[in-house]
Amino acid sequence: MKPDVEVLDDAAILAQTAAQLIVDRAKASSERFTLVLSGGSTPKAIYRLLAQPPLRDEIPWPQVQLFWGDERSVPPDHADSNFRTAREELIDHVPIPAANIHRIQAELPASEAATAYEAELQRFFGSAALPRFDLVLLGMGDEGHTASLFPNTTALDETQHWVVANYVPKLHTARITLTFPVINNAQEVVFLVAGAAKQEALGHVLYGQHDHTPLPAARIAPTNGRLLWLLDRSAMPVINH
Ligand code: 6PG
Repeated sequence: MKPDVEVLDDAAILAQTAAQLIVDRAKASSERFTLVLSGGSTPKAIYRLLAQPPLRDEIPWPQVQLFWGDERSVPPDHADSNFRTAREELIDHVPIPAANIHRIQAELPASEAATAYEAELQRFFGSAALPRFDLVLLGMGDEGHTASLFPNTTALDETQHWVVANYVPKLHTARITLTFPVINNAQEVVFLVAGAAKQEALGHVLYGQHDHTPLPAARIAPTNGRLLWLLDRSAMPVINH
């Protein structure tokens, strides 16, 4: 399925557009809305919008089930923690039940954290079939990684596990990440990409400007779901005609 691409004038409008999409999906959900948060800095503005009126009061928070696409191998109060970012910018400001927050226990050794998170997903979704998230938010690194699926790392080849610990040589650390089978089984995946540093990777991912193996972000292709790229104008690659 060809991805939808929406180019917004700037990062603030991107955040507003993404936040409104999340509200719309949450309101349209029936008993539950399973939402996967992305890490990094781009989503912060989105979380802030969801954490305050008017959008905060439009979301049926008791129906929202929060998950993460990946986590750094640090405790939840560490400055690098994706959970900490979400807690500070969103969770602490909204009436979401604590039981609805499915944190990656990244204070554990990475492989244990991955096993524990996979078990949590199996408890929630059942273990008979791949989990199917309602909405997965993803960012993209300057070199085309997404979640913690980095180029030339072992997690890219994982086809069985839902969650793995992925050693990233250039970061000299392991990360915990959802794998392609899980992300590509989602109902909807939305990339949030802003800033000129993303232009080159976007050129490869969206416009095929590559002469090598596809970047990890290019391998996100929901088998039976929607793929939407929300970009700000500065991230748009210069198309060489
Ligand atoms: C992480 C993310 C990662 C992030 C991209 C983009 O843990 O860092 O999950 O995939 O989304 O690196 O990060 P920025 O939004 O900070 O550019």
